[in-house]
Amino acid sequence: MSERQHVAVYPGSFDPIHNGHLDVIRRAVRVVDHLIIAVAENAGKEPLFAVAERARLVESEMARLAEDGRLDHASFEVRFFNGLLVNFAAEVGATAIVRGLRAVSDFEYEFQMAATNARLRPEIETVFLMATESNQFISSRFVKEIAKLGGDVSSFVSPEVRDALVRACRGS
Ligand code: PNS
Repeated sequence: MSERQHVAVYPGSFDPIHNGHLDVIRRAVRVVDHLIIAVAENAGKEPLFAVAERARLVESEMARLAEDGRLDHASFEVRFFNGLLVNFAAEVGATAIVRGLRAVSDFEYEFQMAATNARLRPEIETVFLMATESNQFISSRFVKEIAKLGGDVSSFVSPEVRDALVRACRGS
């Protein structure tokens, strides 16, 4: 058996982190030695939350899962990243990028991203984990839309994230 440690990056906008993300994280930490949850500084679209707030919520959710014993003493850290994901992954010594796959509609975008990243850095594999059935359909986009329209997001996010959403939507 080799002593090699498998480090993986789980990147995303996390705007904000929801139960689908947590589901992927819980399963990813079981198959890697160390998971880096990488919050993209430039989330592409106009994010609702600033990067510091997105990362703070990720940290807080991870602390809660660890406290509840739901991470099985897994090794993880939360980092920001800027620029190309594959460069960040190489810098931190990761051999894999983890992405969650929900519905078939995710496939084309994820396929393109994985293929592009593989062209840039073939030594870094993209690994897909499917969200469990109950979390298949959750997306940050819809969670934000529901919150903005005054709906109840409690079954998609934690109470802390829900409160952050309510505050952010009140301010917008
Ligand atoms: O949660 P998201 O919005 O689906 O995450 C997308 C993210 C941040 C992982 C992706 O946009 C990304 O990797 N951005 C960094 C820039 C980059 O490397 N672009 C080339 C990817 S093909």
